[in-house]
Amino acid sequence: MPPISRGNRTVCPKEEKEIVYRGYRSTVRVPSHLIGTPAAGSVSFLNNQFAGESVNEAVYDDPAIAELYELLNAWATSDDFYLEWVMAAESVLDVGCGTGLILRRAREQGHSGRLVGLDPSGSMLEIGRRDRDDIEWVHGYVDQAGFEQAFDLVFMSGHAFQELVTDDDLNRSLQAIRRSLRPGGRFVFETRNPAMRPWESWIPENAAEIPHPDGGVIRDENEVILPVTGDLVRFLSRTWSPTFDGMREAEIQLRFLDSDSLSRFLESAGLQIEKQYGYWDRSPVSDQSPEIITVARSTG
Ligand SMILES: C[S@@+](CC[C@H](N)C(=O)[O-])C[C@H]1O[C@@H](n2cnc3c(N)ncnc32)[C@H](O)[C@@H]1O
Repeated sequence: MPPISRGNRTVCPKEEKEIVYRGYRSTVRVPSHLIGTPAAGSVSFLNNQFAGESVNEAVYDDPAIAELYELLNAWATSDDFYLEWVMAAESVLDVGCGTGLILRRAREQGHSGRLVGLDPSGSMLEIGRRDRDDIEWVHGYVDQAGFEQAFDLVFMSGHAFQELVTDDDLNRSLQAIRRSLRPGGRFVFETRNPAMRPWESWIPENAAEIPHPDGGVIRDENEVILPVTGDLVRFLSRTWSPTFDGMREAEIQLRFLDSDSLSRFLESAGLQIEKQYGYWDRSPVSDQSPEIITVARSTG
């Protein structure tokens, strides 16, 4: 199994602990005395009561969860992969950018072109905006943004592509992405390989426990709602943090398209697969590869 593609930040490291977060296994260094029982009480966002158009919008739009996002999802090899693409492109659109970490790093490293981060979660965008005002932050969905032949590169990182759960979401988003590409432009994204059944390790026993920089531990666990049928995986994401009382719980749905279905959706949106990789080291896709990383271009 390749190494984790997401890291962690630590304070006062004391002991090594193996964690699995969103399907990736890693070792974090955690001060043992800080690992405790999760606080009692619960604030539930079940059934996405705040959801707009995206089924998962409520999860990311919770400001308390958005604040923790970069602690739980620190810079990783996957981000290096995308950063290389971004630095080589003049104009870039990051769809489902979240906090826009990759765009912010690109600016830091001297990218002087147009960088646009789009996300339906205002709370995630706010974190990016707070850090940099020289990036265009767009609150919404790609099919509503109306971009026409504006970008050399459109990308979706951090498995944001899997948030497109209905056929309609996929078709509308992919068509809008194709329209937003300049001639010769590329759409680059990844989706977890369903052949590896990564959701089978999304169990509370594999919770991630990450030290909070201000003290205490953030605990993040997943529990898949069984049975898993078809290509849609529903799971409960639970988070405890010293920054809020009790627990935040939300239901997340992710779609796991296999290579053939992925090809069909791309083709019908006018996008042609140029290359595919099974991991960030650019190894080929197989039944054993954790990812399906796709580079596509417009056929129009
Ligand atoms: C796991 S985060 C990934 C964020 C970022 N791309 C990264 O690499 O860290 C998934 C993001 O997808 C966004 N999202 C959810 N539904 C979406 C949709 N229909 N279109 C675009 N983005 C969506 C969420 O708001 C969230 O910020």
